[in-house]
Amino acid sequence: MLKEITAALVFGLAVWAFLATNPPPPKICGTPGGPPITAPRVKLRDGRHLAYKEYGVSRETAKYKIIYVHGFASMRHDSLSVTKLSPEVVEELGLYFVSFDRPGYGESDPDPKRTPKSIALDIEELADHLGLGSKFYVMGFSMGGQVVWGCLKYIPHRLAGATLIAPVVNFWWPGFPANVSTEAYNLQLPQDQWTLRVAHHAPWLTYWWNTQKWFPASAVAARKPEVFSRQDLELLALATDQRTNRAQAMQQGEFETLHRDMIIGFGKWEFDPMDLENPFPNHEGSVHLWQGDEDKMVPVSLQRHIAKRLPWINYHEVSGSGHMFPYIPEICEAIIKAPMLEKN
Ligand SMILES: *[C@@H]1O[C@H](CO)[C@@H](O)[C@H](O)[C@H]1NC(C)=O
Repeated sequence: MLKEITAALVFGLAVWAFLATNPPPPKICGTPGGPPITAPRVKLRDGRHLAYKEYGVSRETAKYKIIYVHGFASMRHDSLSVTKLSPEVVEELGLYFVSFDRPGYGESDPDPKRTPKSIALDIEELADHLGLGSKFYVMGFSMGGQVVWGCLKYIPHRLAGATLIAPVVNFWWPGFPANVSTEAYNLQLPQDQWTLRVAHHAPWLTYWWNTQKWFPASAVAARKPEVFSRQDLELLALATDQRTNRAQAMQQGEFETLHRDMIIGFGKWEFDPMDLENPFPNHEGSVHLWQGDEDKMVPVSLQRHIAKRLPWINYHEVSGSGHMFPYIPEICEAIIKAPMLEKN
């Protein structure tokens, strides 16, 4: 009898563990029961679709073609203050922007095989489908800034310039001296330290960790006020469209968006950004990294370390700002103009 009870308990526990750790399948756009497709989309090499949104002057007349990569829990509609640039500036400079839903977000198909390399290739394919020519600019914010490191590694020959805006840092990149990354890691809220530990050491537990109710999971995903600086909170209070976009951003499910971002962002990488070579040795373009010195999500100490290791990076530290400074229209304009003013 005891044997049967034990067996039943073990079986029950196994079923529970399976259900708790296995995410439900994503609700794919355009499938029965899934969200509708409303955006233009391109079809990629493996059949996945990528949804995009264009702004600015036409591709044909543009002088600067910029591909914008959105951050965590965001989508193609989130484009910093790009849409607030005055039409005269956009026209005068000849700016064309295309923003896309990263795989799994908004109306882009999920990519369960996503890597830092695959997303760089997605960007290259998007550019080719849209006919942006042999070279284009990439610009990414936060988790999207981290994607730009992959572009510098895997498609440098396609870049006219690159801008990383408060790019998320992976504490496990080997280029960081242990004391520097430990000190920065300890500045994170304990619940975020645990979330990152799970994503790095036990990625298969990421879904369970972020959906269980016993311990607090990611404060960043929950948008707890503690992860923002004072200026961030002021800026977020103004950015009302951000909140409506958030639900649409994750309409296909949280696993292939938020959790996949954590697994990749803090997982083991096949390259270290601090080992990258200057993509523009003949000054034919430039790379810019922007960082707020009061950022509570991305430690400024690590960004300074990266900037020191890569002297070809134009490092811009925004004093008094946290993570959300690109929502300040003047700073957004400066970020966009920097690659045009300055060659490295
Ligand atoms: C890390 O260690 C190095 C060498 O011992 C030292 O120069 C540096 O100040 C330390 N940095 C931190 C943040 O503790």
